[in-house]
Amino acid sequence: MTSDTITAAASGTWTLGDLVVNRIGFGMMRLPQHGEALVPEAASRDHDQAIRVLRRAVELGVNHVDTAAFYFSPLRSANELINQALSPYPGDLVIVTKVGPGRDPSGNWLPHATPQQLRGQVEENLRQLGRDHLDVVNLRIVGTDSIAERFGALADLRDAGLIRHLGLSNVRPHHLAEAQAIAPVVCVQNMYGIGASPEQKEFLRTCGEQRVAFVPFYSIASTGRTAGATTNDSSKVHAIARARGVSAAQIRLAWTLHRGPHVLAIPGTGDPDHLTQNVAAGSLRLSEDELTVLDSLHHETA
Ligand SMILES: NC(=O)c1ccc[n+]([C@@H]2O[C@H](COP(=O)([O-])OP(=O)(O)OC[C@H]3O[C@@H](n4cnc5c(N)ncnc54)[C@H](OP(=O)(O)O)[C@@H]3O)[C@@H](O)[C@H]2O)c1
Repeated sequence: MTSDTITAAASGTWTLGDLVVNRIGFGMMRLPQHGEALVPEAASRDHDQAIRVLRRAVELGVNHVDTAAFYFSPLRSANELINQALSPYPGDLVIVTKVGPGRDPSGNWLPHATPQQLRGQVEENLRQLGRDHLDVVNLRIVGTDSIAERFGALADLRDAGLIRHLGLSNVRPHHLAEAQAIAPVVCVQNMYGIGASPEQKEFLRTCGEQRVAFVPFYSIASTGRTAGATTNDSSKVHAIARARGVSAAQIRLAWTLHRGPHVLAIPGTGDPDHLTQNVAAGSLRLSEDELTVLDSLHHETA
């Protein structure tokens, strides 16, 4: 089977609440622009190219798309691209968005939303996506403060039917416990990848024990973060990739998926070839020896 014909179904499935998704999904942060994301001067991506990549992702079986209203460049909005490329939406498509952070119309960061402002952010996502309810909404936070008020506000919107399921992003274990006491949490979206700390690995395990999906971001980009993938991957990652005839990025994704059946990947790309590779990475089965080497790495420079 060539990587062209491997679909996201090869990665297996996980159920977010009552929504079944393939474990290889797609992250929207890269599509509105080329180069660095989330900066006011971002270089807007060609509209038709962005639409093609999104439609191709769905053709390849991707049915879990991660987005946010604050993913935009001067000319492109991630949510509006999803709406233009994919509506009327396939019945099995699960769109996961996040609230908390916000940017003004010029792209400068605003203070994070108060509990009272979260409703407006949810409604902004609904308008841009052209939907009457959101499948999954993650509360994205910074810091260690209590999330009870903000998560409670989202739980109210869930009760009102605007949101089907709730998740968390950029959180610590105590946040998960706090939220679970208010309403069910279906996913945790945190930065994670090869080189993750023992604490991060432990949190991933905790999520699995609670049947909460763990959804890593920056699994490929790693410390390149909003700037994108760097080329300083460990020689050990490259050696394993070379021996298998795949790319280092594919090994990075495959490693995350081997951390547990509850781990979902949402790689972001504007490159159709990278998209095909990322979907194909869901079919890679790493050996115990390969996993031992990859598990022992401390960030990509090790
Ligand atoms: N909750 C949060 O706080 C948070 C934060 C950041 C991101 N996210 C979400 O997580 C998603 C994943 O993060 P990310 O977009 O940074 O993804 P990523 O998959 O870790 O990295 C994307 C970067 O890697 C490159 N890339 C992708 N596939 C590649 C491949 N096969 N070979 C070589 N390079 C490849 C991309 O450039 P090309 O375009 O050139 O392929 C881009 O520079 C985002 O899209 C967003 O939806 C959430």
